[in-house]
Amino acid sequence: MSDKRMLALLKKRKEELSAPSKPISLAAKPEVSRNEAKSIAPADKKARSSSNNGNDAVAKPLPSLSTVSSAAKRPAGSGQDAAAVPAGRNDKKRPAVGTVKAPVAENANAAARTRDITSATPPLKKGGLTALQAQMENKLQGAQFRWLNEKLYTTTSEEAMDLMSSDPSLFEAYHEGFRHQVTKWPINPVDIFVRFLKAHPAYVVGDFGCGDAKIARSVTNRVHSFDLVSVNDYVTACDIRRVPVDSQSLDVAIFSLALMGTNLADFLREAHRTLKKGGHLKIAEVRSRFDEQHNGIPRFIEAITELGFRHKHTDTSNTHFVLLDFVKSSDVGVPRTASGFAAGPLLKPCIYKRR
Ligand SMILES: C[S@@+](CC[C@H](N)C(=O)[O-])C[C@H]1O[C@@H](n2cnc3c(N)ncnc32)[C@H](O)[C@@H]1O
Repeated sequence: MSDKRMLALLKKRKEELSAPSKPISLAAKPEVSRNEAKSIAPADKKARSSSNNGNDAVAKPLPSLSTVSSAAKRPAGSGQDAAAVPAGRNDKKRPAVGTVKAPVAENANAAARTRDITSATPPLKKGGLTALQAQMENKLQGAQFRWLNEKLYTTTSEEAMDLMSSDPSLFEAYHEGFRHQVTKWPINPVDIFVRFLKAHPAYVVGDFGCGDAKIARSVTNRVHSFDLVSVNDYVTACDIRRVPVDSQSLDVAIFSLALMGTNLADFLREAHRTLKKGGHLKIAEVRSRFDEQHNGIPRFIEAITELGFRHKHTDTSNTHFVLLDFVKSSDVGVPRTASGFAAGPLLKPCIYKRR
């Protein structure tokens, strides 16, 4: 199935789930008015100071992507809204959901047919979805996340850029799923990098594949945050194989779980271009991406060294990810095509299993 078709299918299923569930009534069909669209508050964009000075020690709050996306994915007048609107707000004739009675019977038999529609309607959960609908929506979200995740790991960064810019809601869907994964981890690697930067507030930083720029929001350093889509004012939308900063301008280049494209060596070469000599390259990668049976970590380190870095430290103490530290040791590295990266992928795609 083509990518476009698969995406359209997943979106359609999600929309169907969000559609209003029809109340079952034995009474004459009540006139149901259309609810006007609920306006969705745009993301409360924070001004970004050029130096990023004044950032609080704690990550500055942003509207969560899940809030934005779950609001955005509800079509105007969808089932959720219908359930939330009090009876009579839009149409005085409309009876309250749950109290509709069939017309009063003229005889006892007819009276026996009177039913409260709540007994015929599946119980509504908060948000207007039944438990079953919520479960199905969850499954669809999971399927969409896994599909997007696999795409990001198995295509070039150019293809990833095309995909994400074709529909930015995909990025939100991806990050909703990603956040869910990270909550299961004992520690988020971003927090480790934040700790390091707080100890070195003068360092100028590049956060390659920054997501929602938690690092920039958590430290006082000057941080350039890059990702395929800009979800807030901290983020510059670009492909990290080519970022809009000068050569030799960064003290630290961070890749927190961001070496995703099949051309990931291009990202590392870009880090090399933008780092000052002696600057730090800091990588966190999912542990299962390294083929441990075939010397995964040492081969990866060797290939990075060939690009003009010196390996400093490896931390494998975490169950979920590996931390690798390098410094830029030389102004010139060997061309990517002559490095260990030329021989084939050195990191496996990180494929999540069905929940
Ligand atoms: C797994 S997420 C990690 C986000 C963040 N660094 C964190 O640790 O929370 C990887 C991020 O890298 C971004 N990414 C992957 N390939 C990219 C590329 N070629 N250019 C820019 N961003 C990219 C993805 O869009 C995604 O936001």
